[in-house]
Amino acid sequence: MVRTVSSDRLRERFEAFNEIGTTERGGVNRPSLSDANRRARDTLVEWFEAAGLGVTVDELGNIFGRRSGRNDDRSPVLVGSHVDSQYNGGRYDGVVGVLGGLEVVETLNDAGIETERPIEVVAWSNEEGVRFQPDMLGSGAFAGKFDADFAYDLTDKAGNRFGDELERIGYRGDAPCEPRDLHCYLELHVEQGPKLADAGHSVGVVEGVYGFVWLDAAFEGTADHAGPTPMHQRHDALVATGDVVEAVRRIAGTGGDDLVGTVGSVDVSPNAINVIPERVDFTVDFRSYDDGTVERAAEKVRKEIAHAADREGVDWECEAVMRIESQSFDDDLVETVAGAADDLDAEYTRLVSGAGHDASYLNRVCPTAMVFVPSVDGVSHTEAEFTEWDDVVTGTNVLLNAVLAEAGG
Ligand code: GLV
Ligand code: MN
Ligand code: MN
Ligand code: MN
Repeated sequence: MVRTVSSDRLRERFEAFNEIGTTERGGVNRPSLSDANRRARDTLVEWFEAAGLGVTVDELGNIFGRRSGRNDDRSPVLVGSHVDSQYNGGRYDGVVGVLGGLEVVETLNDAGIETERPIEVVAWSNEEGVRFQPDMLGSGAFAGKFDADFAYDLTDKAGNRFGDELERIGYRGDAPCEPRDLHCYLELHVEQGPKLADAGHSVGVVEGVYGFVWLDAAFEGTADHAGPTPMHQRHDALVATGDVVEAVRRIAGTGGDDLVGTVGSVDVSPNAINVIPERVDFTVDFRSYDDGTVERAAEKVRKEIAHAADREGVDWECEAVMRIESQSFDDDLVETVAGAADDLDAEYTRLVSGAGHDASYLNRVCPTAMVFVPSVDGVSHTEAEFTEWDDVVTGTNVLLNAVLAEAGG
């Protein structure tokens, strides 16, 4: 039997949740471990408890809400996503998956359905990776990629430690953050790209996620007066950076069909109108479904950085702060998702995700798959992010029926 969630309850929750850290232009500003992130977490815990879920917070601040199964010893079905946001990010990224998971549980509660397996809803810590790198920290630690001390020692640009900030907002929990037996993991998320919108479909059945690399790089030149210093005597860190920005565009355009590359963060010092830039710290992000393509792009850009430094007579640094291989999801679980969409008569596209997700790490722990809903105009990581409400509901219905199929209704 096909079940459906309550659109009204989910919408009410979604609107109330996004009052937290709301921005003037209709987005949200709730970066990891900020005060707004704390308020979002507190609200979520309150709603988990009101829905009768047993709440556990682990040492990385991942929040789990557990609904018992008929056979509580069986491994749980885990659903969720994240509630940290980009700086001035969108309202849907992450939130749809966590509130969608909660809505699944509430629908089961209302219908008095006991499942064979327990169901857990999770909000992972620090998915976005804008304040603390690397991203997907909570799920990565859960999958055994990072340990708690590594995470605690990470600092943001102001020098705040992850561990101190986690403590400050009251979410340094006691439970160990480590892999455990899970039946499967399902994550509902907005697509953040244009494929579903182009196809006119309300659901994406996600078969895998791109791999990516993040590089932290810097040029160190010489600060000097912008007036008297002749052009041939300059060692300008920003000129070298400009060459790399252009090179990243060129590498992405020639390095493989699906390769994308971005220089997203540039910090110029001293950043003054009449001083030759002494130092530039910048980042490079390359992604593709093919790991060799990502590796080759990273190698090429390293060479371009070295050449640019040579040309301009500046020093350079470049280190990888994040590398995750592409993931292809569990075939059977992907078919469960497709079957749920079929049962609901929802038109869907099979696709792989260009955006990174906690599901990439969970895929190492247990069978994993994702459900996407369309992003209007393919826009995300900006306040303009928008998804039609009917699509959010359809995606949540797919999640509900996939969960029921796996948890045993
Ligand atoms: C994070 O959301 C990413 O995909 O980079
Ligand atoms: Mn996300
Ligand atoms: Mn994101
Ligand atoms: Mn992401």
